[in-house]
Amino acid sequence: MGLLLDNCLVLISNKLLPRQLLIERGKIAEIAELNASLPSMKRIDCKGKILMPGLIDAHVHFRCPGAEHKEDWGTGSRAAVVGGVTTVIDMPNNNPSCTTQERLDEKKRIAEKGSVCNFGFHFGASNDNLEDLKNVEGAASFKVFMGSSTGNLLVTDGEKLAEIFKVAKLRDAVVLVHAEAEDIIKKNTETAKAENWNHAKYHNKIRTNEVESRAIDRALKIQEGIGNKLHICHLSTKEGLELVRQAKSEGRPITCEVTPHHLFLDESVTESLGNFAKMNPSLKSKEDVEALWKGIADGTINLVATDHAPHTRAEKERPYFEAPSGVPGIETMLPLLLDAVNKERLSLQRVAELCCRNPAKLYDFESKGKIKVGMDADLVLIDLGKEIIVKNGSLQTKCNWSPFATWKLKGAVERVFVAGKEIKI
Ligand code: DOR
Ligand code: ZN
Ligand code: ZN
Repeated sequence: MGLLLDNCLVLISNKLLPRQLLIERGKIAEIAELNASLPSMKRIDCKGKILMPGLIDAHVHFRCPGAEHKEDWGTGSRAAVVGGVTTVIDMPNNNPSCTTQERLDEKKRIAEKGSVCNFGFHFGASNDNLEDLKNVEGAASFKVFMGSSTGNLLVTDGEKLAEIFKVAKLRDAVVLVHAEAEDIIKKNTETAKAENWNHAKYHNKIRTNEVESRAIDRALKIQEGIGNKLHICHLSTKEGLELVRQAKSEGRPITCEVTPHHLFLDESVTESLGNFAKMNPSLKSKEDVEALWKGIADGTINLVATDHAPHTRAEKERPYFEAPSGVPGIETMLPLLLDAVNKERLSLQRVAELCCRNPAKLYDFESKGKIKVGMDADLVLIDLGKEIIVKNGSLQTKCNWSPFATWKLKGAVERVFVAGKEIKI
């Protein structure tokens, strides 16, 4: 006998149905109509609330090892849970980069000790770790930085990229790309320094639309000859989206994701937010943002993932050229999306596809992403009518600021269950 979540509206097969749900041994044991009295040890009345699968944030930077002053598994996973995220997949741009089995195992040990949510790991592809890629066990994907960002993972050589893609094909692994063209970034950075573009409002004159679309085009061309699964991270431009749309229409195994900051912010905020809106890829124009929303509506975009990339306020307060790129986002993703549901920009079903079903499918989490008997009891109870205000200083992420500070959002996380256990938020 387990825990009964009674009186909920449950998102099942794209419908909201009044149900009670019994959780036993970390799994969903039974789903029944409200009048069936299921035997339980403990009952929670969820009247008026919606139960959806816990979110899977497939793109986070929890900074261990090497930058624990920005985030650690305790703070990062608490931030996840407060945001309705029950599973995260962590990126390999640590110090040292996660490019060997030993380093992956070490990261796993750190997470096991500190995390209150489920986790997985992306594995870094570098210029010289093909053997590691061939043999690594327990990685969710191979991650390639085609343009430099935080950390020192970078692969620009076409031959090397092809070799990585071939190993992925052999292993049926998905290659994730940070698609920005390093040569154009370098050239634009020289211009920026010569002309003293010393403010984040110029960031997208360095990391331009072309920077992204050229890299996506290149990745797609390499993939075409090899046929591996390819996933484009944090898409930010209409041109990049169009390339992905075209490749998908040819039936190729291409997927892509978009971040909340590229959906809810645009370049106009960089004037006031400065480095607190400096991230890679950069924020783009309103037209690009509109194109991304179209991509959400027509199914071209498969996932929303945060690219949760915390840096301290002090680091962000440095001059533009020295300040690191990246913003936190894991606590605000679901409230932002629920607010958008309330504004009828997308449906709750689509949120569940983008943040639960599709990431579970892409990364082979067979027991996650859906509310169904036998699945893991990773669940989030939401209140679509409740308003919250995002506040700097009141967040769980160690950096404790948000580019969405002061935003009033309608749609809140009420309770969160990880493997059937409620984590108090
Ligand atoms: O803005 C970013 N920050 N983009 C990345 O690709 C990396 C991330 C980080 O780790 O800080
Ligand atoms: Zn990236
Ligand atoms: Zn990232």
